[in-house]
Amino acid sequence: MIYVTRKEHFNAAHKVWRADWSEEKNTEVFGKCANKNWHGHNYDLYVTVKGNPNPETGFVIDLKYLSKLIKSEIIEVLDHRNLNLDVPFMAGKMASTEILAIEIWKQLAPHIVTHGCNLHSIKLYETENNFVEYFGEKII
Ligand code: NI
Repeated sequence: MIYVTRKEHFNAAHKVWRADWSEEKNTEVFGKCANKNWHGHNYDLYVTVKGNPNPETGFVIDLKYLSKLIKSEIIEVLDHRNLNLDVPFMAGKMASTEILAIEIWKQLAPHIVTHGCNLHSIKLYETENNFVEYFGEKII
């Protein structure tokens, strides 16, 4: 088993906010990410796929294919968009890095499995210092 990673980048606006909370409570819990008039982040996305190298090509997955897949399913949907308003797979969800990573997993995993390997992890950096990793474990 070997692990192959493709890095991509996008930027997007969001607001982490609960309409059922007061402005004070939103600011207390979500800090700057609760800014009412939105703000943006430069996200770095690492998609890691695991499998055995194909005996003919030596590849676990063709990185050209993986790059195209991430671009069509994720980057084109998220880049320069508002995560709360513009992205169908984030509709009605909290626009936290955690939820975004889980939803990115859901978009990519079914495609990758058709290529004889499996999605291993989604690592998503919201800032240089803050990132989340998701390994597809069930969220209770
Ligand atoms: Ni934010």
